[in-house]
Amino acid sequence: MRIYKVGGAVRDRLLGIPVTDIDWVVVGATTEEMLAKGFRPVGADFPVFLHPKSGEEYALARTERKSGRGYGGFTFHASPEVTLEEDLIRRDLTINAMAEDDQQNLTDPYHGQRDLEARLLRHVSPAFAEDPLRVLRVARFAARYAALGFTVAPETLELMRQLSESGELEALTPERSWKEISRALMEDQPQMFIEVLRACGALKVLMPEVDALFGVPQPPAHHPEIDTGAHTLSVLQQAALHKQPLSVRWACLLHDLGKGLTPEEEWPRHIAHEFKGLKLIKAVNERFKAPRDCQELAMLVGEYHTHGHRALELKPSTLLELLQSFDVYRRPQRFEEFIAACEMDARGREGLEQRSYPQADYLRGAATAARTVAVQPLLEKGFKGPELGEAIKRERLKALKAYKDNA
Ligand code: CTP
Repeated sequence: MRIYKVGGAVRDRLLGIPVTDIDWVVVGATTEEMLAKGFRPVGADFPVFLHPKSGEEYALARTERKSGRGYGGFTFHASPEVTLEEDLIRRDLTINAMAEDDQQNLTDPYHGQRDLEARLLRHVSPAFAEDPLRVLRVARFAARYAALGFTVAPETLELMRQLSESGELEALTPERSWKEISRALMEDQPQMFIEVLRACGALKVLMPEVDALFGVPQPPAHHPEIDTGAHTLSVLQQAALHKQPLSVRWACLLHDLGKGLTPEEEWPRHIAHEFKGLKLIKAVNERFKAPRDCQELAMLVGEYHTHGHRALELKPSTLLELLQSFDVYRRPQRFEEFIAACEMDARGREGLEQRSYPQADYLRGAATAARTVAVQPLLEKGFKGPELGEAIKRERLKALKAYKDNA
């Protein structure tokens, strides 16, 4: 039995990046031998085991063949005869298809090291096409390693284009896709993920609503970059620069979907795009079964981001409606995330990245003003039920009027 470190751990060590997760491949062993050594099987018919102490993944060297559409449509062949080279050739990228023994001797039959130096994301073999999720993985790696100068090899992009056209991406489960999307959005250059998906035609399949934003103009006075797709990418980039959480990044990606629906004769104006976009945001949310906090924030940011920008001009009654819509009294964090998304939207414009966003503090102050209205005195006055609700609202409105007057 020979054991090698494989995949990301080898790649990242060679890149000088800290390694968090180690995957191992075992050559020349049977399932029975692994079980006898105390390894725990991961699934019933999957030749992957967890180490009894470290919990790291150990996979028997295997070959895979696609036997049907989608994931699950795989047959595995794991046996002691499968060689390390046979195992490595079925992997996605050359930089992920290197193995290392305990002396740090590298096995690199598909020239991963050369591609690391050339900063190229290149597929190992036509077997790449056997898992369509790899289209998203490559785009995610492009987002992660963009700062190091990595690009997708032209022949790999071509293969990704063919896969996107073949209809295979539709067979991906929402869970697998979301895992890639969410990880990609949390990278330092998430806009690169979207750009690569767009370049290979996968964006049109996965998120046609986002793809449709490219080529749609906006008024140059507010948007020097003009193109709505370019704007969306900049907003995402700002969100990463400002280390925003996943929910904010997701909301940033989807905030302007309504602009893709504007009839051409109305360009570059997008009247009521906030409201029109809601059904599209809902569709994308549901397509990937995004977590509830991401779904909620995307819908709220979609509907109210223009309110955020106009915060200082809003009437106290509109301000109150906004705060009520966010249930800011019980969900202060969500309102903070809304403010963050609005600020990223304001900064994601060409040449305006550094501008200040006084709306943020103004909105925070308004939330505090509304929140400080005490309920106890109203209870003491005898208000209850719906009347109490109305009284609280009146007091909050009063507080917001005073806040606006003093701002
Ligand atoms: N792999 C693959 N195709 C996939 C998933 C994984 O070929 N769809 C292979 C790659 O060789 C990869 C290894 O399995 O390097 C481990 O996969 P995973 O842990 O998902 O990715 P890492 O490469 O370790 O990358 P990350 O740092 O993102 O975890």
